[in-house]
Amino acid sequence: MSLTVVANRVPIRQTDEGWETSVGGLTTALLPVLEEQGGVWVGMGEDPDLPERQEYPAQDPDFLVRRVPLSTQELDGYYYGMANRVLWPVSHYLIQHLELKDEFIETYRHVNRRFAEAVLDETEKGAEEVIWIQDYHQMLSPGLIRKERPEATIGHFWHIPWPAMEIFRILPWSRELLRGMLGCDLIGFHVEEYVDNFIESADVLLDAEVEGNRIRYDGQETRVEAHPIGIDVDRFKSMSQDPSIEQEAQKFRERLGSDHIVIGIDRLDYTKGIRSRMLAFEQFLEENPEYHGNVSFFQIATPSRTELESYQQIRREVDEVVGRINGRFAQESWVPVNYRYRTYTQYELCAFYRAADAALITPLRDGMNVVTQEFITASRDGVLILSELTGAAYLLPEAVQVNPYDHGGVADAIRTALEMPTEERTERLRGLKSTTETLDVHKWAGNFLSSIQR
Ligand code: G6P
Repeated sequence: MSLTVVANRVPIRQTDEGWETSVGGLTTALLPVLEEQGGVWVGMGEDPDLPERQEYPAQDPDFLVRRVPLSTQELDGYYYGMANRVLWPVSHYLIQHLELKDEFIETYRHVNRRFAEAVLDETEKGAEEVIWIQDYHQMLSPGLIRKERPEATIGHFWHIPWPAMEIFRILPWSRELLRGMLGCDLIGFHVEEYVDNFIESADVLLDAEVEGNRIRYDGQETRVEAHPIGIDVDRFKSMSQDPSIEQEAQKFRERLGSDHIVIGIDRLDYTKGIRSRMLAFEQFLEENPEYHGNVSFFQIATPSRTELESYQQIRREVDEVVGRINGRFAQESWVPVNYRYRTYTQYELCAFYRAADAALITPLRDGMNVVTQEFITASRDGVLILSELTGAAYLLPEAVQVNPYDHGGVADAIRTALEMPTEERTERLRGLKSTTETLDVHKWAGNFLSSIQR
């Protein structure tokens, strides 16, 4: 089998030292497969100076990177428009952020066609080829590829939630998008809920024939399965057990100078519930004056999609609420909320995970949330407070689960976490660690690829 991966972003980036592979779950999972078996990775080309075709590594190449160069107008309509202002908010049930503009779908159609053409260009008819498409940026390319290659093996993995049918059908193009997806042999989601929502969407909106997890439509059969994604467990495990991480964690605790540390780590995105989480922490401080001076909340927000107004707005809102809480409660050397708007390396994050007594991971909606698994793997005896509106919540019953909209409930959970007896912490963490091991990202890729070839 040779593999063609289709994803919005390519897996390599240029640094001062030359080209290297980017850090991220998908790259970690799929590069070993490409390196072993050869293949192609098709993704967008944002920089017109970069070549359309680039063998990687330059000396002794393992695979080909094929870029689809996009003009500013194409990037705006396809990525900033359709992907980020239509499919992202609707899939996360945050329809107040939805912007339905014809130019978005028109550009999306055009760019998906160009991705499909790049795939057809790079793959041979009849070859033993698996084409694996990733995420909401590419819903139409499966159908376009299928039309030209009826015999091809085509898979799709959807990395975010698939919403309830009644939410998805708000999109004026819902049927067209579904038809595109049904060009696949196999579609993967993180959890059964999204599988069920997708099948119901095909059933109701297209009147497709459904039998168990199989959908028949327009002469094509598509299987729909849950394949929960994980992290590179071995990598995180060995990194977190490195003695230097322990020293970093210790230094970090001393710098914050509090008895208790609660952390939050997210991209700065309105789906992540950072502002609600701050309000919950504020309520916790109001209700628990005995904790003033000895608990610090350390929140990292990684800059993301900064060109978009809704992301600029959430940034302002978070800044404001952090300022207010610190203005209200800070005393002498104690700062209740330590907020960092920047990117950290995985090594640095690992030290924060290791140092934390609790992690507050409370998205308003999230497909899976792999920060959860990084914390679990790195932590020694920390407590995970987890939003029940994440894919991860279905798999991690040992977490202290909360409704992120219920600030009082989250405030209570913070107290519960800080006062949880050591035995209970260890017991819960043992269960969480054992699930996380089964979710390893290499197993995820292996399971999907073996299922699609069955
Ligand atoms: C989510 C999506 C990914 C996306 C990532 C970062 O995790 O599922 O496909 O790459 O967010 O967002 P960005 O828009 O910067 O690629």
